[in-house]
Amino acid sequence: MTAVKRAFILLLIALAIRSAQGHQQIYSVVDFHAAADGKTDDAQAFLATWQAACSDPSRPVMLVPGRRTFLLSQVTFQGPCKSPITIRLDGNIVAPNGIWTTKPADLLAFHAVNGLTVDGNGEIDGRGAIWWDCYNKRLLGFSLCNDLTVRRIHLKDSAEKHMTLFQCSQVIVDSVSITSPADSPNTDGITVAWSNNTYISSCSIQTGDDCVSILSYTKNVTVTQSTCGPGHGISVGSLGRFETAKVEQVTVSNCTFVGTMTGVRIKSWQGGKGYAKGFLFESLNMTDVQNPIVIDQFYCPQRNCHTEPGGVAISDAKFIDIQGTSSEQEAIQLMCSQSVHCHGIYLSNVKLTWAKHTAPANAAILNAHGTTEGLVVPGIQFSNNL
Ligand SMILES: *[C@@H]1O[C@H](CO)[C@@H](O)[C@H](O)[C@H]1NC(C)=O
Ligand SMILES: *[C@@H]1O[C@H](CO)[C@@H](O)[C@H](O)[C@H]1NC(C)=O
Ligand SMILES: *[C@@H]1O[C@H](CO)[C@@H](O)[C@H](O)[C@H]1NC(C)=O
Ligand SMILES: *[C@@H]1O[C@H](CO)[C@@H](O)[C@H](O)[C@H]1NC(C)=O
Repeated sequence: MTAVKRAFILLLIALAIRSAQGHQQIYSVVDFHAAADGKTDDAQAFLATWQAACSDPSRPVMLVPGRRTFLLSQVTFQGPCKSPITIRLDGNIVAPNGIWTTKPADLLAFHAVNGLTVDGNGEIDGRGAIWWDCYNKRLLGFSLCNDLTVRRIHLKDSAEKHMTLFQCSQVIVDSVSITSPADSPNTDGITVAWSNNTYISSCSIQTGDDCVSILSYTKNVTVTQSTCGPGHGISVGSLGRFETAKVEQVTVSNCTFVGTMTGVRIKSWQGGKGYAKGFLFESLNMTDVQNPIVIDQFYCPQRNCHTEPGGVAISDAKFIDIQGTSSEQEAIQLMCSQSVHCHGIYLSNVKLTWAKHTAPANAAILNAHGTTEGLVVPGIQFSNNL
């Protein structure tokens, strides 16, 4: 055999072995000396695993094996990586059982990682109870991540927001469940800001604040086939307090709300600038929701705001096929500012009744322009001719 032939055969054998492995190297945190006892901080082991996987060019998997618990202090997983990367999260992660930072921070942060998938049956427990009177500590943060998929994992008891998407695009969040007590403050489920093309489906979110909140500079968000409650509902905003608002193309469809504060809501501060437009709220089931349909141009949670001219322009919002019960009489609130009215509001096939009361639900309308079609209960008196 010539040297060239021998080299060629060796190459074929090497290729065969590589293809038998499916080209995909698995990096288990246990092989990088994670203690997996739920007591020792495994942050360094996770970072070492990430560094190895992230520099592998053939679609590596970072494995957090099941039936074990890993204690993690604050960890940032930095991209970019050499290729798309999957984190298989079958084991459970717990936050330290104490105050782990005094600054705004994410327990687990992913920064500038493109082609990231986080998938598995594992749980991330923020052990947030001791935090619930201070804020700005989030559980799982993604920033500057394109082509991101988060699937199946369970998030629990964050100190504040559970999952944040900031400056991300092409995001799929599927079959993720999130739980924290109804009275835990500011524990939003999923927050989307400065992001494009986010698709949230089949999620179950039970928290103390918004199930999903959609903040400024965000375009094309869908939330579908998901359940919400307890919590404050699915909210756009609050908008226009510090920034010029820009939100467009938001769809919430086929979702169920049980016992939430609002169902679907667009909220903005008086005096804001910018726009929020292109909303479709469709096929929603409300059970015992305080105010199922809300547009609030006077958002002011501390109730200490002065009347200010100007406001974020809210337009093109469709509410179609929304059924169920409200726990307060005012099932619909469309409260728009005197200086920037709401335009293009459309309601069709809406039927909301006041739970446990014989009196009908009602609607509060201020400076809102639009049309209705078919059955709309409670009835709407738009401001069109004023
Ligand atoms: C979202 O799209 C806009 C243009 O429509 C672009 O300016 C912006 O950078 C995009 N944001 C992200 C996070 O990709
Ligand atoms: C909106 O986002 C979804 C999900 O990421 C994507 O599939 C779709 O193409 C986007 N639509 C537009 C008009 O950009
Ligand atoms: C709602 O879900 C049903 C069944 O899962 C599906 O056929 C329908 O297209 C969905 N509708 C919307 C508006 O997403
Ligand atoms: C709405 O949700 C309630 C409670 O979850 C359920 O009992 C009811 O069947 C649902 N209605 C529709 C039309 O899906």
